[in-house]
Amino acid sequence: MKQENLVSFSQSLLEWFDSYGRKHLPWKINPTPYRVWVSEIMLQQTQVTTVISYYERFTKHFSDLSCLAQASVDEVLELWAGLGYYARGRNLHRAAQIAWDTYGEIPPHFEDLIKLPGIGRSTAGAILALALNQSYPVLDGNVKRILTRQYAINDWFGHPRIEKLLWQYAEELLPTERVADYTQALMDLGATVCTRQRPKCSICPIKDSCQAYFLGTQGNYPVPKPQKNPLSLRTTQMVILSNHQQEIFLEHRPLTGIWGGLWSFPECSIETNLESWCEDQFNFNYQVESIKKLPSLRHRFTHFILDIYPVLVQVSSEHNNIAESNQKTWVSTKKAYQLGLPAPTLKLLKKLNEASDLKHMV
Ligand code: ADE
Repeated sequence: MKQENLVSFSQSLLEWFDSYGRKHLPWKINPTPYRVWVSEIMLQQTQVTTVISYYERFTKHFSDLSCLAQASVDEVLELWAGLGYYARGRNLHRAAQIAWDTYGEIPPHFEDLIKLPGIGRSTAGAILALALNQSYPVLDGNVKRILTRQYAINDWFGHPRIEKLLWQYAEELLPTERVADYTQALMDLGATVCTRQRPKCSICPIKDSCQAYFLGTQGNYPVPKPQKNPLSLRTTQMVILSNHQQEIFLEHRPLTGIWGGLWSFPECSIETNLESWCEDQFNFNYQVESIKKLPSLRHRFTHFILDIYPVLVQVSSEHNNIAESNQKTWVSTKKAYQLGLPAPTLKLLKKLNEASDLKHMV
């Protein structure tokens, strides 16, 4: 933005704040670094309306840094109960102890503040700006939303490159005076005008510089986090051959490819006609007595999902040893458990053993 536009951005925002800003929030009253810090931590993941009563109780009980530092963590967590994200409460207490022991106060320097547990760049900036009127930017959810619309940023704000850009913009837009009011104004505008759903652009004090408003694309920002590509779906038919010796037929899989070197049921595509497939595979060395489809199961790999359609094929016992080699074998289910089996094969075997109509296999 040009210099004159930067000035007009903060001026418009401050004028709006003077008329419409939220000045009665409890942390706006006597905004000491301690009080602002407690409010910022509570507001990190919780709505203003929920925070208000917790904040009032907390700051009444622990009226300053030394009170909080000297309390037990249990006492702190008791007052935090119901706010959620309890690591915030524990960090607040630890940070109070460190700040009290090291500085005897909430340190008024960015480099010291940011080292305290639970205080990141935006929270440190908010404490310094809101309590001490120091020129530090904030970049919380509200501010990110405002800036992604102002600059029509077409990427997700979580990308490090975009986050860096947003910090640059936030810094560039900071006024030289009234930083505390300007910071609160941004937060209030985000909460009441530049809202996630249905922003009230017609009453927005900074709409003239807003690129999304100019383009009529406010609803597109912030751009949501990109979804990972949906996993591709593959299917396979697993043939569970069973004979009258309570044995099943397993194949040793090639060392390369999925389940390399493990033993599993023979597979074919789901369109395959199983009678012909058996004839091809086993050269008419036995007869197919029955074919029964079993419930399918889904197996997730890192890069795809495999839907497995198992079929139980009961064969006559004669000549069944013909099919054996060191890559193919008939084994009892008991023995099968001792072989290296992929997870779905193991799952199917267990299901078969449990199924009452297949008791003969156990
Ligand atoms: N969210 C984070 N900080 C806030 C503040 N000071 N006022 C309102 N909402 C906030």
